[in-house]
Amino acid sequence: MAKANILVVDDEQIVLKSCERTLAPEGFNVLTADRAKEALEILKKDSIDLVITDLKMPEMDGVEFIRHIRNIKPDIGVVVITGYPSQESLKETLSLKILDYLPKPFSPALLLDVTIRAIDARKAVVKEVPQEETIEFITQKLEGIIKKYKNKPGSLIPVLQEAQEAIGYLPPVVQRYIAKGLNIPVSEVHGVVSFYSFFSMKPKGKHNIRVCLGTACYVKGAEEILKKFKEKLKIDVGEVTEDRIFSLESVRCLGACGLAPVVVVDKETFGVVSQTKVEEILTLYNKN
Ligand code: FES
Repeated sequence: MAKANILVVDDEQIVLKSCERTLAPEGFNVLTADRAKEALEILKKDSIDLVITDLKMPEMDGVEFIRHIRNIKPDIGVVVITGYPSQESLKETLSLKILDYLPKPFSPALLLDVTIRAIDARKAVVKEVPQEETIEFITQKLEGIIKKYKNKPGSLIPVLQEAQEAIGYLPPVVQRYIAKGLNIPVSEVHGVVSFYSFFSMKPKGKHNIRVCLGTACYVKGAEEILKKFKEKLKIDVGEVTEDRIFSLESVRCLGACGLAPVVVVDKETFGVVSQTKVEEILTLYNKN
């Protein structure tokens, strides 16, 4: 089965062909369109998971095209083929819920990396478009953080910490923006974000639930506990509930193996968690 259905939109045939050549052997089902109108027709009838599109097309402005996409499929993942994001394009990105940018010309490795991350992040596409003030706040906040640390050695982690505090999480586009601001490779930023568990690429709920699937917890039935949380919350791991109250994560060993199976909600640890205790935990946090 194909990993995901990807629609690539670009008026340059060479870009369409190279995307197909790179992504199809990796198991992606790749559809292509060299005109925005043709792409919108495909979107209406086919089930597409991710659109990778150029912003500069002859017959329709890219931003207008993405607005049309949002009307047809509000929650679809979109990656934009362009240069590095400016403050203006970051604002557009946030308002149009674009997942990431693909700077042109791009290598097959970069295309694959951005595609895999975008497919992973698309589940986390927030349902509602952020308010104008929120977008303004985020872009200004990021500008300020980058300015404060620019040209200072060892500044990446504090920048990421402050950015996560301001925005709540670090989506790919924000990582790219920080990389540009600090003048370091995106891969370095991504490497740090993926390495440290306190950085998150996905938005979190008001209360974040972490279920330990480490060996000690696993043998004491942690998988069943995770299943119960999924059923009760109607979300999968890495997702946020509709009301944004809860997000769910699975982790490897929380360092409290003697209390297995262990669940941590925000900063509070719950040990010897049973199916009944799952319900109690949810009731407790639903009230707060
Ligand atoms: S294995 Fe779960 S806390 Fe160690």
